[in-house]
Amino acid sequence: DGTTNVTLIPGDGIGPEIAESVKEIFTTAKVPIKWEEVSVAPILVDGVSTIPADAISSIKKNTIALKGPLATPIGKGHVSLNLTLRRTFNLYANVRPCRSVEGYKTAYDNVDTVIIRENTEGEYSGIEHEVVDGVVQSIKLITHEASNRVARYAFEYARANNRLHVTAVHKAPIMKMSDGMFLRACRELAPEYPDVKYDEDLLDRVCLRIVQNPGPYAERVMVMPNLYGDILSDMCAGLIGGLGLTPSGNIGKDASIFEAVHGSAPDIAGKGLANPTALLLSSCMMLRHMGQFDAAAKIESAALKTIAEGKFITGDLRGNATTQQYTHEILKKLGA
Ligand code: IPM
Ligand code: MN
Repeated sequence: DGTTNVTLIPGDGIGPEIAESVKEIFTTAKVPIKWEEVSVAPILVDGVSTIPADAISSIKKNTIALKGPLATPIGKGHVSLNLTLRRTFNLYANVRPCRSVEGYKTAYDNVDTVIIRENTEGEYSGIEHEVVDGVVQSIKLITHEASNRVARYAFEYARANNRLHVTAVHKAPIMKMSDGMFLRACRELAPEYPDVKYDEDLLDRVCLRIVQNPGPYAERVMVMPNLYGDILSDMCAGLIGGLGLTPSGNIGKDASIFEAVHGSAPDIAGKGLANPTALLLSSCMMLRHMGQFDAAAKIESAALKTIAEGKFITGDLRGNATTQQYTHEILKKLGA
């Protein structure tokens, strides 16, 4: 019947409320997808939290998922389920666009960055051990294969999105071998993309410059190892008003998961105060990934317009609307 099944993981804390909002908006926008809702409430296998099998098989079958926040347990024996999902499906590129939102005032109105974060290795390899008492090693694993794969993705993204400038962000003067390998993988591909300008920049320098003036980082794509992308993407989100406004997509060969990067906000969970924008914008990224460009544009502009008008925005954006009121305003703009 022309509808596509998509896995929906509402997640913890505010997850169910913001997922509800996205569902209502998709229904009103008549997006031809059918949600297959699954829980990833962790089950303990040998004392380690694991993702339930039906969630895994749903994503495998549908190959596309939208995901809310999952609380991350801290400490030994617990791997973040967020990471488990990325690993399970080998989601090698984490795409994080970040653009100033009209009507929400910060020190900047010209932020327009895209970070492409290697998503499977680096400091996130999870290889750690205590060598002797008081001495710990955490391995930063960098492979040519994963670096090449994410670099390729960055160049292709640059072309597809007409941002014809790729900057590899690194710390190779210090991490000589690992970042050196990452850079080599990027540099090797550059000649295959003569239409895309390629350069390299130091992570600390990018941080310094971008908070002084984000302008020069628009119209380009920044690609980098895992942990750098984790940190720099939060910094960019901070420039526009926080993680409540930024989408993300974890892209793999066999599956892709689009997710809100913010936490589960247990302090406001269940109170109808959460801002669904990050999940909604992630769902628009998902729609574009599925080739549904019109629906994505329609929903995105209804949400951004609602924020720009500033009348029905949530507390995190200095407004006093509930999740429902904000959602309702978007529905109205979609013709409900
Ligand atoms: C993110 C988050 C995750 C990460 C956490 C929740 C494991 O901060 O998606 O950026 O560190 O990658
Ligand atoms: Mn992060």
